[in-house]
Amino acid sequence: MIFVKTEEEIALMREPNAVVRDCLKFVGEKICAGMTTKEVDTLVYDFIKASGAEPSCLGYCGYPASACVSVNETVVHGIPDDRVLAEGDIVSVDLCAYKNGFHGDGARTFCIGEVSAEKRKLVKVTEECFFKAIEGLKEGTPLYDIGYKVQRHAESNGFSVIRAYTGHGIGREMHEDPSVPNFGRRGTGIRIKAGTVLCIEPMIAAGSYRVRILDDEWTAVTADGKPAAHYENTVVVREDGVEILTL
Ligand code: MF3
Ligand code: CO
Repeated sequence: MIFVKTEEEIALMREPNAVVRDCLKFVGEKICAGMTTKEVDTLVYDFIKASGAEPSCLGYCGYPASACVSVNETVVHGIPDDRVLAEGDIVSVDLCAYKNGFHGDGARTFCIGEVSAEKRKLVKVTEECFFKAIEGLKEGTPLYDIGYKVQRHAESNGFSVIRAYTGHGIGREMHEDPSVPNFGRRGTGIRIKAGTVLCIEPMIAAGSYRVRILDDEWTAVTADGKPAAHYENTVVVREDGVEILTL
């Protein structure tokens, strides 16, 4: 069931989403070679708490950290640990904050120092996929137009779209209906109502879209070991377009 939000609810959602926005920016300024993924998680935890919010991911279905920190071939749900970030890595940081009874959610992929041309293009195209997806998105848009646009942009650049994970609705719960795939057929799916709040999150792979889950039961890596990138914002669908809450 999709919970369409009232203006009052959307006003309440601005705060947790602003925390996510500011936290991602802060991490982008701090993240560097030599830092462990656990240190990145600590930055996120401290920032969210200092903002008067709660890290939604911590304890979610037993998840042990405040952020997902996914390096290179890790697509999503990388558990922070003692791994040291190195020049040439790409690192996606995905985090959620809870405040005012609502969640906010966003992700960015950062380049550590100089990265390969392929990785640089992958990170850029993944971000572009999000902006392609919201082009023309407004009340009445068929849901799967989002995925169609992500897929078209990713594949026309020689990349593939991860199938095993999708975007989602968000509100009082971190994951609400509808599921928002990053692939699909144009003109299909439910028509999106104004006031729907969605997390649109392209996850794009340089090679095959097949993933494998590690023994920790969280970490999703590409089956072929090629790099993947992730970019996510929480958006409100309006009568005439979208409002991005995490930018
Ligand atoms: N932020 C992720 C998303 O985009 C959810 C992370 S799963 C968690 O849906 F367990 F880490 F919380
Ligand atoms: Co999300």
